[in-house]
Amino acid sequence: MSRKLKIGIIGSGGIAGAHVKAYRELSDVEIVAVADVIPDKSAQFVSHWNLTSARAFDDYKQLLELELDAVSICTPNVAHYQTTLDALRAGKHVMLEKPMSVTLEEAVEMAQTAAKTGYMLNVGFQPRYDPNMKIIQDLVQSGQLGKVYYVETGGGRRRGMPGGTFIRKDIAGAGAIADIGCYSLDMALNAMGYPKPLTVSAYSSNHFGTNPKFHKEASQFDVEDFGVAMVRFEGDLVLNFKISWAMHMDTLGPTIFLGTEAGLKVTPAGKGSWSGVFDGKVGSITMYHDVRGHHTESAIPLIEHNKNVFHEKVRDFVEAVQEDKPAPIPGELIVRNQAIIDGILRSSQLKREVDIQL
Ligand SMILES: NC(=O)c1ccc[n+]([C@@H]2O[C@H](COP(=O)([O-])OP(=O)(O)OC[C@H]3O[C@@H](n4cnc5c(N)ncnc54)[C@H](O)[C@@H]3O)[C@@H](O)[C@H]2O)c1
Repeated sequence: MSRKLKIGIIGSGGIAGAHVKAYRELSDVEIVAVADVIPDKSAQFVSHWNLTSARAFDDYKQLLELELDAVSICTPNVAHYQTTLDALRAGKHVMLEKPMSVTLEEAVEMAQTAAKTGYMLNVGFQPRYDPNMKIIQDLVQSGQLGKVYYVETGGGRRRGMPGGTFIRKDIAGAGAIADIGCYSLDMALNAMGYPKPLTVSAYSSNHFGTNPKFHKEASQFDVEDFGVAMVRFEGDLVLNFKISWAMHMDTLGPTIFLGTEAGLKVTPAGKGSWSGVFDGKVGSITMYHDVRGHHTESAIPLIEHNKNVFHEKVRDFVEAVQEDKPAPIPGELIVRNQAIIDGILRSSQLKREVDIQL
């Protein structure tokens, strides 16, 4: 494509700025419109980021009337569904922020709409662009672990609770399970080839977020800050998931893959009370196996990666649009990620195991 790709941004809050920075690195892309539901917020955003040729709208539907190639959807989670449907139906490719949606039904309809309209629905899991994630996937899929029968993933921040739009159910839909849990689920499931989930038994709580001792917006906080789940998959596989925005503990453990021939342990990179989850880069990969009958631990050398993974996800999406390639992280597959989140939320509310209908 020789002309510049025309991009619109829907939702001009915190993460929209990261999208602007990433698009700006690409010479063949221009941001031509921004929309936000809060009056005048998109105009302020346009001015703040010096987007001189961009138009600002208070209603994203007006933005969708423009001739755009693609949109970045940067709204809070509850608005992902309708904005995505409208964008796809208006003939725009979609770069959607994570998590995909709030409910499984929404995710299914979003993926179906992408398939029906022929426009791309790409879900932005930037940790995938750490090349060490590919190493994990390659090791798991190489057969070196034998049959993988158990996966444990998730992670916990000692004290890393967001505020604002992230802690209100009517805006975020869910808390830690969706916000950071979606990343660790993506890591583990992508390595396993996104197997089909069947049932979930889960528990969630919010002892920290609702306590003014730990959160200054405690009176607003009505999502979960902790969740655990046992998920069964097709193919005789189970996954133990645990996630925490806050806890009195240093770690909820690494991600592990147990196979009949070897096991794999993966830890996240990062230090401090907001670390311990897989929203960024990989810290270490260790394989546990027997060599000539001896228990052996092999530290897998990591690939040093100094590029900004967020920018890489945006670049990959842009290339897919320009070259008419399939979505790099297709909504069609991420429906399974959302199915688990949906199952966890239902199960913890009902206090029993639930089926996942896919
Ligand atoms: N990939 C990442 O690293 C990352 C990091 C942070 C947030 N996120 C995701 O990005 C999304 C937004 O997060 P944020 O931190 O920017 O939130 P935010 O609250 O700062 O910004 C969201 C903006 O969307 C606007 N908005 C809400 N409904 C809208 C609608 N219908 N039309 C247009 N605008 C609308 C709000 O007014 C707000 O300005 C969330 O889904 C979050 O999970 C991703």
